Amino acid sequence: MADLAVIYDRIRPDEKMLFAALDGLGVPYDKVYAPHLTFTFDAQGTAQVPWRVAIERCVSQTRGHAVTRALEGFGVQVINPSQVIELCGDKLATNARLHAAGLPTPRTGVAFDGESALRLMDQMGYPLVLKPTVGSWGRMVSRLNDRDAAEAVIEHKEVLGGPQHGVFYVQALVDKPQRDIRAFVVGGQCIGAIYRTSEHWITNTARGATASNCPVTPEIADLATRAAEAVQGEIVAIDLVEDPQAQNDWGGLLVIEINHTMEFKNSVSTTGVDIPRHMAEYALSKLH
Ligand SMILES: Nc1ncnc2c1ncn2[C@@H]1O[C@H](COP(=O)(O)OP(=O)(O)O)[C@@H](O)[C@H]1O
Ligand SMILES: [Mg+2]
Repeated sequence: MADLAVIYDRIRPDEKMLFAALDGLGVPYDKVYAPHLTFTFDAQGTAQVPWRVAIERCVSQTRGHAVTRALEGFGVQVINPSQVIELCGDKLATNARLHAAGLPTPRTGVAFDGESALRLMDQMGYPLVLKPTVGSWGRMVSRLNDRDAAEAVIEHKEVLGGPQHGVFYVQALVDKPQRDIRAFVVGGQCIGAIYRTSEHWITNTARGATASNCPVTPEIADLATRAAEAVQGEIVAIDLVEDPQAQNDWGGLLVIEINHTMEFKNSVSTTGVDIPRHMAEYALSKLH
C-alpha cells in the first residue's frame, strides 16, 4: 500500500497519462477503483485508509464528491478537496464565489420558478444562454434567441424536469470569437492554456471543437490563478471567454466556469506542456 492514491471510476486517456507521469517520477501509488471502495466509520476506522494524499479523478461527480468526503474523514488530503468540488460542481456556487471575489463573469441571473425566470429573461434581454447549474460537456447548455424559445424551454423544464430544473441559471450570450479559452492551473500556477475553436457557439471539445495552443498572456495567467484561488482549487481548469464588449482589468476576459476534474488529453501535445507531470509533481509536493 502506498501513501498516494489515484481514485478513478473509468480509465480514460487522461488517467492513463496521469499514471504514466506518476510511473515516470517513480512514485509508488495505488490505483483505486472507486465503485469497489467501502468505508466504515468506527473506532478502528483510520486503519482502513493507508493513503495520505489522493487524486480524485471520477467521471461521476456525485461519486467523486462522496468518496472525497469519506476520505477526508480519515484525514486524507484529497485533490481537489470536497469544498472545491462543491463550488466547482455547481455553476451557481462558482459564480457566486467569483462575484464575491470581484472576478468577472458574463452577466448572469438566477430565478427559482418559471414565471420569475421568464420575467428575468425579458429584463436581461435576448439572446441568452440557459444552462443547468450541474453539468458538463456542453449538455443542455441552451441558446435562447427570443422570448418564444425561452417560454418553450421553461415549459419543458417545468413539466419534465426534476428538482434541479427548478433553478434557472441564465447568462447574457457573449459575442465571443469562434472560440473560448481553457487555462490549466496547478498549485497556483497557470501552466498552459488552449483555445477551443468551433463553428458552433458551444466550444467544448466533447462537442467537436478543436484544441490549439493559446499563449498564456499575463491577463490569462492572472485571471485564471485568481479564479482558482477564489474556489481554492488545487488542480483546476478555468474556462474563459473573450468578450469584445467587456472592459475590465483582464482585457475583456470573463470566467465561464471552473472544472475540478479537468480533462487534458487534447492539451498536452497542443501546448507542449506536460500537464499530467505537473499534476503528479503537485501531488508529490503534498506528500512531503
Ligand atoms: N454566456 C455564454 N456566452 C457565450 N458562450 C457561452 C456562454 N456560456 C457558455 N458558452 C459556451 O458554451 C460552452 C459550454 O458552457 P459551460 O458553461 O462551460 O458548460 P459545460 O459545463 O457544459 O462545459 C462554453 O465552453 C462556451 O463555448
Ligand atoms: Mg465548460
